[in-house]
Amino acid sequence: MSRADFSLYSNAFPMSNTLPPIRVAVTGAAGQIGYALLFRIASGAMFGPDRPVILQLIEAPVEKAMKALEGVAMELDDCAFPLLKNIIMTDQPEVGFKDANWVVCVGSVPRKDGMERADLLKDNGKIFIGQGQIIDRVAADDARVAVVGNPANTNCMIAASQAKRLTPDRFTAMVRLDQNRAQTQLAKKAGVDLTAVKDIFIYGNHSPTMVSAYCNATIGGKPVSEVITDHTWLQGPFFETVGKRGAAIIAARGASSAASAANALTDHVRDLMTPGKVHSIAVKSEGHYGFDPKVWAGMPVRTTTPGAYEIITGQVLCDFCKGKIAVTNQELVDERAFVADMISG
Ligand code: NAD
Ligand code: LMR
Repeated sequence: MSRADFSLYSNAFPMSNTLPPIRVAVTGAAGQIGYALLFRIASGAMFGPDRPVILQLIEAPVEKAMKALEGVAMELDDCAFPLLKNIIMTDQPEVGFKDANWVVCVGSVPRKDGMERADLLKDNGKIFIGQGQIIDRVAADDARVAVVGNPANTNCMIAASQAKRLTPDRFTAMVRLDQNRAQTQLAKKAGVDLTAVKDIFIYGNHSPTMVSAYCNATIGGKPVSEVITDHTWLQGPFFETVGKRGAAIIAARGASSAASAANALTDHVRDLMTPGKVHSIAVKSEGHYGFDPKVWAGMPVRTTTPGAYEIITGQVLCDFCKGKIAVTNQELVDERAFVADMISG
């Protein structure tokens, strides 16, 4: 990428070469998503063109994974990224999370064809107990955590529940891939450029019950339902395509989405570091939009200061979306009950 590509971010990231490096811990760094993600972080796509980074890469204590990680680090070296100041490789979370300003939790098992993401709960959920505790103990005071490993909302809740020092708002889960998917589907259906679609936000779980709330979105400045008058499509195939896109990719590729997930995570963190941005993330619901206050649900937030957000509370949703929110909320409540033994407090 040329430096000109970063002009978009120049307001958010001061143009200076003297910024201290940001420490970014990434679990599952040698996996599929890791392989697409690390190069974006090191190039400056996540934290801007003037923010040096130190990558703290964490893998499972398995020889094959650590060996693969060495290969990824060699490739990072071979890119000669000016912003990349150091690479730490470890199978010890205490080392990898130490002083991290951002922790990106990717490491976990992806689902296979025929599974739902919730089928991963018992296996993946327990990873987030120990990691939540260690992040809380050793990460930087300003640490922020983004959970990608599925089922992302509930894993994030498990990790956050372990924390005594870091408050729940520091823990977010990714629904940005769903927002990006929804935006593209609306643009294709309307036959417009992607950038004409605004304010499409995702509510609820990163699962087929997610709610792509088209009722507040616009296309070319007009409400979506005025531009796409096929309401049967909006409430049927549109919801279905976005909600089941992950499974469709697994069926086609034989492996779960990776490059688009890494791209969405880059969007998630970059927008959460950019004051004024309004975007979908899964956060502790605090009871907004009828969600159980204890679950982590996707919803629109506005970034206030780098890394911090406020929930957008004023969205008036249509009856169809409200009904769907009740369903996705119930699924999150059920997932919480299923992992009750993994939640602290
Ligand atoms: P992958 O199997 O290619 O890589 C996962 C990596 O995690 C492996 O290298 C593995 O060794 C490592 N790992 C496992 N347990 C670990 C632990 N305890 N600590 C550190 N590392 C550990 O999988 P992937 O395709 O990169 O997907 C990773 C996760 O992301 C999956 O759970 C997948 O379902 C999820 N995902 C989420 C979204 C989303 O939108 N939220 C999108 C795509 C994928
Ligand atoms: C996705 O949405 O692509 C990921 O969550 C992977 C999956 O299992 O669907």
